[in-house]
Amino acid sequence: MASGWRGNGNGNAGVNVNSDGVSFTAVGDNIGAVTDLTKPVQLEDAIVDMVVNVSPEFKTSAASLQIFAQIKGGSWAGEWNCWSGNELLTAGSDVAITCTISEADKKFDQTDSDVQIGVQAKGTPAGTVTIKSAKVTLKQSTNSSSSTGSVYSANVNSLRELADVTIGIAVSNNDAPSYNILTSAKEKAVVEKHFAQMTAGNIMKMSYLQPTQGNFTFTNADAFVDYANTKNMSIHGHALVWHSDYQVPGFMKNWSGSAADFITALETHITTVVDHFEAKGNVQSWDVVNEALTDGSPSNFRTTDSTFYVKSGNSAVYIEKAFQAARAAAPAAILYYNDYNIEANGAKMTKLEEMLTDFKARNIPIDGVGFQMHVCLNYPSASTIAAAMKRVVDKGLKVKITELDVAINQPYCDNYPANKVSAFTQSVALAQKKRYCDIVKAYMDTVPANLRGGISVWGTTDANTWLNDLYKTQFNNEKISWPLLFDDSYNDKPALRGFADGLQGTTCTNQ
Ligand code: XIL
Repeated sequence: MASGWRGNGNGNAGVNVNSDGVSFTAVGDNIGAVTDLTKPVQLEDAIVDMVVNVSPEFKTSAASLQIFAQIKGGSWAGEWNCWSGNELLTAGSDVAITCTISEADKKFDQTDSDVQIGVQAKGTPAGTVTIKSAKVTLKQSTNSSSSTGSVYSANVNSLRELADVTIGIAVSNNDAPSYNILTSAKEKAVVEKHFAQMTAGNIMKMSYLQPTQGNFTFTNADAFVDYANTKNMSIHGHALVWHSDYQVPGFMKNWSGSAADFITALETHITTVVDHFEAKGNVQSWDVVNEALTDGSPSNFRTTDSTFYVKSGNSAVYIEKAFQAARAAAPAAILYYNDYNIEANGAKMTKLEEMLTDFKARNIPIDGVGFQMHVCLNYPSASTIAAAMKRVVDKGLKVKITELDVAINQPYCDNYPANKVSAFTQSVALAQKKRYCDIVKAYMDTVPANLRGGISVWGTTDANTWLNDLYKTQFNNEKISWPLLFDDSYNDKPALRGFADGLQGTTCTNQ
């Protein structure tokens, strides 16, 4: 409280700091005390709470107090709407006064300048004012951004140092410059600090690497993998085969040749890509096949909605062919089958187990299962997640959490929209902290060290999560998933602390 305060206003006599607080002598209009908030600080909708104590002379003078905030420099634009009238003040008593920084022109929606906040006398004051305490609560969220939270620190020096398990993150170098891993200083800083592995959010998918048959374009991916190498980070390769339309190369979608030739073309893709990255030395593992199973009960292999199934002659044989090609090209890489909802949907896991049993019986090379883990705040339960992972562990295979995010709102769980969470409040942030902890702990408790493929989160900040796009329509363009470890301004969220607690085996709490 005492540090950094100074007198403000023409003719001020400075501040007097003692164990009571910070005092100033109110010798005239606009005389007060201020302190600085160093950028970046996003003050729009922040709440400033102070406890003040005025002398009898101040009360008698009929002067008022005004909490204010000012952008330092330029025109020194400020928030001037917070008046605490003399009638609210009691001589010699502590009084709480408050101000919400809320300007119609949103002038505090900025992070480029330092800001000063303080309180000043209004009118023809006399006597002294003592600031007993001052607190700034940054906006926790609006519909479009999560907690600015620059006041919160998870106290985690480096997530990857906390346990003997690979901690990774999905990043981009082809989306917005604001979070391009090769150019954004903020993105780099957070990734290099906490993570030991990266996954390409998109650029190692099929059409990014082979847009037309025989033309491989590795430039983007190479820059990304090389950057990882310079930072001693490994790469989880994602994904060699995935049916999702936007990244299946046109030549595969439009395949009119034989099924056997299609399989050969698929093998060529895998062999070329895996060979290429083998030379880099840091691509440790691959999602060989992604999302080949349906969500129904019973679950089965995707059929008509998978180019690969259809063009392989209405057969799931492409899956084993893909694993065999990947193994041939990278004998030491860890090969995963990767899917979503296998932590929740028992029928899907049953189908997966069937495939794993079959692969084992026929010596099809597979090392583990990737659980994407795009989960909700309350669903599925940690025990359900643990039980699903155990089913893979029991097969002697590795478990990797490949795409973890914990959505606060999600159209298909936690009774949305009836229970829509409309603001990322502190209690929501803490519930998410516990949830991250519970999940990470379930993983650490269920998967023995030799079968841990690691845990990766799917993105850095809430501003850039893929869920904002995925649920745009359902969410009416509101960015209300808030699923990641860092807020819109790259500040730690309590979720980061929760992740760390889970890794360290600390009790998971929402405190
Ligand atoms: C997502 C990317 O993050 C988005 O940028 C893209 O528009 C769609 O794909 N499961 C996966 C990932 O395996 O590849 C997906 O990534 C998210 C769901």
